[in-house]
Amino acid sequence: MSFLASSQTTKEKIIQFNLDLPLEKAQTIPSSWYFDQDVAELERKNVFSRSWQMVGRSDQVALPGSFLTADIAGEPVLVVRDEEGILRAFSNVCRHRAARVMEQECGQAQRLRCRYHGWTYDLTGKLKGTPEFAGVENFAKEDNGLPPLQVVESKPFIFVNLLVNPTEGEDSHSLLQNFQEQSQALSIDKLQFFDRREYTINCNWKVFVDNFLDGGYHVNTVHPGLAGVIDYSGYHSKLHSKSNVQISPFRSSEKQKGEAATTSVRSGDYAYYWWLFPNFMVNLYSGVMDTNLVLPLGVDRCRVIFDFYFPTEQVEGKQDHIKKSIDVSHQIQQEDIDICEEVQRGLQSRSFDTGRFSLKREATGYHFHQILAQYLKT
Ligand code: FES
Ligand SMILES: [Fe+2]
Repeated sequence: MSFLASSQTTKEKIIQFNLDLPLEKAQTIPSSWYFDQDVAELERKNVFSRSWQMVGRSDQVALPGSFLTADIAGEPVLVVRDEEGILRAFSNVCRHRAARVMEQECGQAQRLRCRYHGWTYDLTGKLKGTPEFAGVENFAKEDNGLPPLQVVESKPFIFVNLLVNPTEGEDSHSLLQNFQEQSQALSIDKLQFFDRREYTINCNWKVFVDNFLDGGYHVNTVHPGLAGVIDYSGYHSKLHSKSNVQISPFRSSEKQKGEAATTSVRSGDYAYYWWLFPNFMVNLYSGVMDTNLVLPLGVDRCRVIFDFYFPTEQVEGKQDHIKKSIDVSHQIQQEDIDICEEVQRGLQSRSFDTGRFSLKREATGYHFHQILAQYLKT
């Protein structure tokens, strides 16, 4: 109960949630998890520092010497394609005085050169140049390379994990296996990145994820334009170890009732809404993909980054179609932002603690809460 939240320890707040119940008996995570600083800090340590985070795109690090930078749970991260073509990830913190080694979002370099005092590292992270540093005792360049991190490429995405010693179940396979099977079948690696939009939302990052994972429960009420093109009766989901997918058949074109703008850019046989634990979503329609990365900015604020991908021939030719598609997504996003901000206010109310799940719709949402709780308890 919200009244009690402030007097409970973090551990008490976490064990209050029972993740072993079947869906018909399950409760949502307690509301305090959505506004409590201690829970947010535990998430930073146990969730974001131990899970695979999408940090950039394959096309940004395609050539030897190309690199990209990112931030995971406050840790500066660097991804580099070395001269042999091997993709590597490092801590982007210089071993001399902790400045960031590379600052640009992405680029091309033969050596990684820190802008503060000019130390240089090669593309495998080895320390090479230390200007005016002769005579320092007990200092070996070999011991002062950039600490490596785990990286995996699943085209067109690059994921990094800060974990030094992953245990079973924390490998990238358990996150990506099912997603990759389907994304390869849909040839998403052939799509081309087109544009990015960012939204800052006044809600906890989990509110946005919950909203994504409610199995289409809010589509008819919050997104009337989208409801007309989706065959809601055929909406279903599949749960995997660290991911799930909601699948919705589109209505046949004669039966579509949506606004013309929506129907013209959302068609095909199915829409697939993938979620990869904890904060990355991939929306796949026929020949269109957009991704949502949700980054916490504080207990009650998050940033959602939308990346849009289209087939190369459309990027080069049918820009009208692309513009319409992005406008439809923007409209849907505005509708989601309004409801997410309202939910955040409601969660902080004294009257709300936990809620229940629709068996028909919300298995995906409970799945998220269960995996989250596992990470917070260990
Ligand atoms: S902090 Fe990088 S060279 Fe000094
Ligand atoms: Fe929505």
